[in-house]
Amino acid sequence: MSDPASADGSAAIDAVADRIRAAIGDRRPRVGVVLGSGLGGLADRLENVVALPYADLPGFPRSTAAGHAGRFVVGALPGVDHPIIAMQGRFHLYEGWNARQAALPVWVMRRLGVECVVVSNAAGGLNPQYRVGDVVAIDDHINFMFRNPLVGPNDESLGPRFPDMSSPYDPRLIAVAHEAARSHGFPLHTGVYVAMLGPTYETRAEYRMTRTLGGDVVGMSTVPEVVAAVHAGMRVFGVSTVTNADPPDALGETTHDEVVEAAASAGEKLRHLVEALVRHVSGAEAP
Ligand code: HPA
Repeated sequence: MSDPASADGSAAIDAVADRIRAAIGDRRPRVGVVLGSGLGGLADRLENVVALPYADLPGFPRSTAAGHAGRFVVGALPGVDHPIIAMQGRFHLYEGWNARQAALPVWVMRRLGVECVVVSNAAGGLNPQYRVGDVVAIDDHINFMFRNPLVGPNDESLGPRFPDMSSPYDPRLIAVAHEAARSHGFPLHTGVYVAMLGPTYETRAEYRMTRTLGGDVVGMSTVPEVVAAVHAGMRVFGVSTVTNADPPDALGETTHDEVVEAAASAGEKLRHLVEALVRHVSGAEAP
């Protein structure tokens, strides 16, 4: 992939968007969903699907993390008319991608006309109230990756050089998600996501530190995509699935398999939230 920061970066984004547009015809998704570890099942439920493996997209990176299929899927959730575009497999910084590459799919979605991005992830629970399998609406984040996709030349056609970050997560979308969680009878927390570079899980001291600094959940993704989306004027809803939640001073071992399994078990909750958000953004509230 040519670096989206380079002079031809914008052309690279256009080339991918053109390829997707050619495949989906007049179906224009207004909502994009970035599916985190173990959450790809939502894309399997879509109907009238067009799947676009990253390998078929000109110059696109390939995702390598386990639990990620590596494709865009355009389709409709059962009973919801409006198509969405889901990203099964994202680009993590710990795989060696830079922050611009991690943000690239969001820029592609923007070019396709997507107005609202739902970014999901598997995360460790720092807040002692959280249990494995809980879902958390992200209402703010702390960027402990110390990387930012907007470093480099600014594309003024997308957004400003110094974007405001006082409210990256749309409060109205958070409210819609809470309504949906209530009506489906599951708890939805609201909390702060701390983004770490990874790939190591946190030490006990790091776990304590991220909690002390104000974090409720900790993970290794999401922030580059959210920063790109906010810069480009998109509405953002972020959601974490709690896949491990030990008290920092009795921190147990965390394995990737257990993370993927716990995330998959929360897939239904995520689906209900995404359905409600798609209906809201498309102007078709639940009956
Ligand atoms: N830390 C960082 N990333 C994660 C964790 C965690 O505890 N769980 C799932 N992703």
